[in-house]
Amino acid sequence: MDLGLSGKIAIVTGGTGALGHSVVKALLENDARVVTAYRSRDKLEGLAEYLGPLKDKLTGVEADVGNEESVMSLVRHTIEEFGRVDILLNIVGGYKGGSTVADTTLEEFNNMIELNLKSTFLCSKYVLPHMMKENYGKILSISARPAVDRRRRGKSGAYAISKTGVKILTETIAEEVKDYNINVNCIMPSTMKTEENLRNFPGADTSKWVDTEDVAKVILFLVSDSSKVTSGAAIPVFGKS
Ligand SMILES: NC(=O)c1ccc[n+]([C@@H]2O[C@H](COP(=O)([O-])OP(=O)(O)OC[C@H]3O[C@@H](n4cnc5c(N)ncnc54)[C@H](OP(=O)(O)O)[C@@H]3O)[C@@H](O)[C@H]2O)c1
Repeated sequence: MDLGLSGKIAIVTGGTGALGHSVVKALLENDARVVTAYRSRDKLEGLAEYLGPLKDKLTGVEADVGNEESVMSLVRHTIEEFGRVDILLNIVGGYKGGSTVADTTLEEFNNMIELNLKSTFLCSKYVLPHMMKENYGKILSISARPAVDRRRRGKSGAYAISKTGVKILTETIAEEVKDYNINVNCIMPSTMKTEENLRNFPGADTSKWVDTEDVAKVILFLVSDSSKVTSGAAIPVFGKS
């Protein structure tokens, strides 16, 4: 199915990560132009190697998406090079859990909010004016299952709160831009089949884990005009778990 993504300009944060690899590849295969924020040059080179010839349509911009100046510069760079931003994919995020609220340090709590929620807020904030000017845009962020599943929050409070924040941010922006041709959605994956998860959970039953390539397919649909009547949604990506 042609998703109509040819020539679209996409900013992807976290493009050098596990899900990022699959998403960047899928966007490039659909002939979009991708600007990815990166922190580690080595990881950017790893992504380029994974992409093969597709890497020619990838632009890497060094940026810390938890830093306001850095996010402004990422968006400025994209506008200077391409003139607009059609798609923002907020993929940066991560998990740290294992302690109850009573045992969670303030630093651990802040780290989860910064990594998962502040990064999504900052990138959305600085891309939105450009999308509103063009009256076109798709924002897709990554929440997680605990945003809707209270049984998955124990000993993961800071993570669950930050990812629930991403869901609320999504709903809020969608409401604020509903008179524009802008769609704002998030997905809620459960455990994905990534090298890091395989390392961290040795011996786990991975049969119900979700492949990042399958998650990328859902994401591509949500940033295409095929889903233009969907906004403010939090889509479960739980696979069979
Ligand atoms: N993996 C799962 O099972 C799972 C489940 C539910 C939801 N999710 C969510 O899905 C998303 C992708 O997960 P993943 O497993 O693909 O993560 P990942 O492999 O750890 O990738 C995260 C990416 O974000 C980048 N990053 C982190 N902080 C950054 C910052 N301040 N500025 C710029 N880049 C930064 C990392 O780059 P560096 O390496 O250079 O820091 C890395 O490329 C995350 O939002 C995660 O919370 C994952």
